[in-house]
Amino acid sequence: MRIKNICCIGAGYVGGPTMAVIAQKCPDIQVTVVDINEERIAAWNNEDVERIPIYEPGLPAVVQEGRGRNLFFSTDVDTAIDKAEMIFISVNTPTKTYGIGKGMAADLKWIELCARQIARISRNDKIVVEKSTLPVRTAAALKEILKHTGNGVKYQILSNPEFLAEGTAIQDLLHPDRVLIGGDIETKDGIEAISALSDIYEKWVPKSKILTTNVWSSELSKLTANAFLAQRVSSINAMSELCEVTGADVTEVAKALGMDSRIGPKFLNSSVGFGGSCFQKDILNLVYIAKSFGLKQVAEYWEQVIIMNDHQKKRFAANIIRTLYNTVSGKKITVLGWSFKKDTNDTRESAAIYVVDHLLNEEAEIAVYDPKVQAEQIYKDLDYLESRNKEANRLNLNVTNDPYEACKDSHAIAVLTEWEEFKTYNWEKIYENMLKPAFLFDGRNLLNIEELTKIGFVIKSIGKPAPTKNSVVSKPALVS
Ligand code: UDX
Ligand code: ADP
Repeated sequence: MRIKNICCIGAGYVGGPTMAVIAQKCPDIQVTVVDINEERIAAWNNEDVERIPIYEPGLPAVVQEGRGRNLFFSTDVDTAIDKAEMIFISVNTPTKTYGIGKGMAADLKWIELCARQIARISRNDKIVVEKSTLPVRTAAALKEILKHTGNGVKYQILSNPEFLAEGTAIQDLLHPDRVLIGGDIETKDGIEAISALSDIYEKWVPKSKILTTNVWSSELSKLTANAFLAQRVSSINAMSELCEVTGADVTEVAKALGMDSRIGPKFLNSSVGFGGSCFQKDILNLVYIAKSFGLKQVAEYWEQVIIMNDHQKKRFAANIIRTLYNTVSGKKITVLGWSFKKDTNDTRESAAIYVVDHLLNEEAEIAVYDPKVQAEQIYKDLDYLESRNKEANRLNLNVTNDPYEACKDSHAIAVLTEWEEFKTYNWEKIYENMLKPAFLFDGRNLLNIEELTKIGFVIKSIGKPAPTKNSVVSKPALVS
């Protein structure tokens, strides 16, 4: 079966870049990305390709190449579904905020709506591909809905989870470690559907990297991969706290660990806490699934990864307050970086949101600078927590486009995202314009501690002993 038309429902951080790369590598396939969000589609169609809704290095050029040729962005969901032989579902699956499974289970409302729409519109057989991260066995639910509400059309459901990381999405898509395709490997139609999708990837991915499994293994592999990655970050973050009280340096510990080929060096950067749309949501989902099957110990094991992450964010904020003589009330604190990691404008679950919320509760005056995140998004993130009213958020937090202005007259700076540009600032100038002692809390171990200490900053980094000659190392408590 040769695919000529693809429809992707959901023009977000996953759907947009993934389809742009498929369109680039398969010029003979027409790829239409649809979304109910008109504003988002208009932005994807913006004549100035630098103004597409997602900031992702390398993406504008890929979009430019395909757009209007075989890559289209549209709000006409029905027509795109009707025309396509293959439909990717790439809609949001956030954690439920209501009802059973509130705060843990994935909300499959949007997935179900898509399935019902596909069933209503389709007049010929379709391959439906799950791209969004979904709880294991979602494909069964999709199949049921399509079967019972469709017009006798045949569907094959594939799971093809996306492993791209934001900020490196284009490179991850062009050179994936693996492509996972889960399908009905026991039937001829299932195998044909898998091979139709595999043919697309084979245009640029070596066949040896395309892995086919049954649907459930594929769905669960995605959740597990994210849980393992998040677990590494929480593990090194747990060690960072121990480093701070023992005088060990977490960067040195991570290096020593990473040189063990069984452990490897990636994902060992201690930080103020992981964020992003996936890690927390997927682990909560895993915990929920384990609990649903009565696997208490499995659930509790993975829950610790989240507990550790929340602790890391809280203790970072608490450290700022403690260091600023136990009060930040009325003090200006500058936050550099709001996105959940560098090279993205995505702020979902960013550690910055929680650290700042904590500081606002302590009546701090916050100034924020982020190279790519807009002020409206920052306010939206804080409003969503409902810790205080919207006016109070706007009154006590100021967003500026100039990092030097943001740092002026500040009591302390907190670096919460590892944007490269922060390293290149004129830190002498920043120091001169700050109140003294000029505190700097590096939540990413990004800046050069020695140079900044020489300038005069008092620096607190994650998992590092204070860089002063007379630094006192806390004695470990006696444990019986
Ligand atoms: C993740 C997975 O990596 C990707 O495979 C999946 O498809 C989606 O979820 P993403 O959330 O985009 O990708 O970014 P990632 O690079 O994994 O970082 C997640 C969070 O962990 C970020 O907040 C990042 O700053 C933090 N992190 C990562 C650390 O604190 N330390 C590290 O060593 C690595
Ligand atoms: P991700 O990071 O998984 O790509 P996003 O939230 O960035 O998630 O994108 C998901 C997109 O899916 C949003 O732009 C949303 O408007 C869109 N969406 C959700 N439900 C539907 C639907 N039924 N039809 C079309 N688009 C949808």
